[in-house]
Amino acid sequence: MKKSFVALITGIAVLIFFAAAPGYSQDDVKTVDDSAFTEKKRPVVYFPHDAHNEKAEIESCNYCHHTYENGVKSEDASSEDQECSECHFSGGAKGADNLARVYHIACKSCHEQVKQGPVMCGECHNKEKEKALKNQL
Ligand code: HEC
Ligand code: HEC
Ligand code: HEC
Ligand code: HEC
Repeated sequence: MKKSFVALITGIAVLIFFAAAPGYSQDDVKTVDDSAFTEKKRPVVYFPHDAHNEKAEIESCNYCHHTYENGVKSEDASSEDQECSECHFSGGAKGADNLARVYHIACKSCHEQVKQGPVMCGECHNKEKEKALKNQL
């Protein structure tokens, strides 16, 4: 009797967890919109997170959501619960420039290497896409 009660409560907790989880999932990510950029100089960057990563065949989350230990990238640990700016933003205009630089390295270096995906400013920071995304909301 006691055991089945515990199982029931656990079951309900698991259900609630999974019902609530999509709100925090990467499924909905359509843009890179780091909160450290309080004033954006460029249009928002379209980035259909899951679809992009599937098409680009990037298998491990920590390819982007990495952590480092003593200067060495961890093999299995990842940081998808953190914004990139939590580690790559030191504050102020200089910090914002540096954070943008880090994003550009992360995104463009691969596109250049595999010769696929956008490398021009206006391809990533695109006014038309920004408008289209706003209309979807
Ligand atoms: C190509 C790089 C890349 C890969 C690979 C990647 N992500 Fe992300 N992810 C991002 C970027 C960029 C953001 C947006 C960060 C921001 O706005 O601060 C993000 C955001 C997220 C968020 C935050 C969603 C939110 O609501 O704010 C979660 C969760 C996440 N990713 C999980 C994952 C998981 C799980 C995987 C592996 C299956 C993964 N990511 C693979 C780049 C990547
Ligand atoms: C938990 C902290 C942490 C998070 C979160 C994090 N990084 Fe990093 N990242 C580091 C550390 C530490 C290094 C290595 C030291 C350095 O170059 O700053 C690094 C290095 C990098 C580099 C190489 C920098 C260079 O100058 O060559 C890029 C690019 C990068 N990160 C992009 C990202 C992106 C994009 C995200 C978000 C998807 C992210 N990082 C999230 C800690 C983090
Ligand atoms: C490891 C390689 C890799 C990384 C890292 C990467 N991309 Fe890509 N990206 C690709 C490839 C490959 C394509 C072409 C995929 C296709 O459309 O078949 C692509 C295509 C795109 C496209 C156009 C396709 C679409 O879905 O509209 C956009 C926009 C894009 N990437 C943005 C980004 C952004 C922003 C980042 C950094 C947060 C990023 N990418 C990081 C490999 C990468
Ligand atoms: C591969 C995609 C890509 C390309 C190409 C690219 N950017 Fe970005 N850029 C990003 C991402 C991703 C961010 C982070 C956006 C965010 O969080 O709002 C960013 C951030 C920025 C920011 C800081 C945020 C803002 O709007 O003030 C500036 C400025 C910027 N980029 C300028 C440029 C310029 C200039 C070029 C061309 C030389 C360029 N970018 C090319 C992806 C790209």
